[in-house]
Amino acid sequence: MAHTPYNGSSQRPAGLSEAARLELIETAKRYPIKRSAVLHGLRLVQREAGFVTEAGMRDVASLLEMTPHEVYDVATFYTLFHLRPKGEYLIQVCRTLPCALGGAESLLSHLEQRLGIREGQTTPDGKFTLVTVECLAACGKAPVMQVNDDYHEAVTTEQVDRLIEQWHRTPPVQDAGNASTRGKGRG
Ligand code: FES
Repeated sequence: MAHTPYNGSSQRPAGLSEAARLELIETAKRYPIKRSAVLHGLRLVQREAGFVTEAGMRDVASLLEMTPHEVYDVATFYTLFHLRPKGEYLIQVCRTLPCALGGAESLLSHLEQRLGIREGQTTPDGKFTLVTVECLAACGKAPVMQVNDDYHEAVTTEQVDRLIEQWHRTPPVQDAGNASTRGKGRG
């Protein structure tokens, strides 16, 4: 199921659908303790709503016998999960030292200038969200960015310009909710 793209709507998103609730209950049965299925629960929320909603986190907490705060802690640890609506193209620029030394700052500035947004923002048409993340595990090819499920290594500004033109012409083919599961390097 494709995620719902950002449309600027202020409508309060719903929690898990009945089908997703049943799926999570069945998944939790495979684990010795229910809370082990929390990542799957959060993926279901994001798959249905396009991002991790408060109502969805409460549903996951209730079904897995966790507190909403515990679920929130997991959701905020992984770059996989987004607590706000995101664009069709989620652009994640690595900011860790090897990429920083390899030009990540100028790459980010170029993206900000081309897209007309700052880091952490989404374009008004809902097409692009630009964020920075910690190491994407391709340090030898700095600077690196991940766009939805695709990696781009040793990225140049010319390459970015070509990609942006291409992205403007075509919608993404994959669900951005399946992006990296790496931690945000908190702590
Ligand atoms: S430091 Fe950027 S991919 Fe590792």
